[in-house]
Amino acid sequence: MSQKIVVVQGSPRKNGNTRAITKVVIEAAQENGAEVSEIDVTTLDFKEPGCIGCQKCQYSDVFKCALDDGIAQKVATLPEYNTIVLATPLYWWSYSAQIKMFVDRMYSLSKLVDPANFRSQFVGKTLALIATARGPLRRNLELLESQWRRPAEMLGCEFLSCLFPNTSAEAGMLGSDQAAVAKAQEFGRKLAST
Ligand SMILES: Cc1cc2nc3c(=O)[nH]c(=O)nc-3n(C[C@H](O)[C@H](O)[C@H](O)COP(=O)(O)O)c2cc1C
Repeated sequence: MSQKIVVVQGSPRKNGNTRAITKVVIEAAQENGAEVSEIDVTTLDFKEPGCIGCQKCQYSDVFKCALDDGIAQKVATLPEYNTIVLATPLYWWSYSAQIKMFVDRMYSLSKLVDPANFRSQFVGKTLALIATARGPLRRNLELLESQWRRPAEMLGCEFLSCLFPNTSAEAGMLGSDQAAVAKAQEFGRKLAST
């Protein structure tokens, strides 16, 4: 059975390096039999920018954010996929604000307030990360990677990442960098077989 993958794109630059290299990953995954959907979080409408901590999702029978806006509707589709990939540039050692708004709403897909009654739509899935950064600081993507790895571990998910710590300043040029393209293609193949 083919893998169903969703890529959550969080780069505000339409012609940027994150989107360029994500495209390579997606094409490689598709060539290896995966079905890939995309959610562009930079285009979603929202009533509130992020989670407002109302906790309604924790006490309801459904796994859906009560705000019921564009972000909530897309988050509610995530259980349909085997693999959820975040694609983001590194902004201040973290993901973009646009991705953060989406990630916080993912709270609605687990019942976490009562540890004795823990349930999650993520159990058994793979959470993955594609991230680009400009460097030159060493280990510039380490914090971001663990920011996604730690929740993956907590939720009983496998975790995979593909990191590009030293991208060119020129928008989109990462898609023409042979070493980066080879790495992205390998990651796409891995996603398709995970
Ligand atoms: C607001 C902002 C914050 C950034 N913060 C960092 C950072 O902390 N570390 C780093 O290495 N690069 C940082 N960068 C550089 C970007 O992560 C890098 O250029 C990335 O590849 C841009 O992706 P894009 O082409 O998809 O926009 C930052 C860029 C911006 C605009």
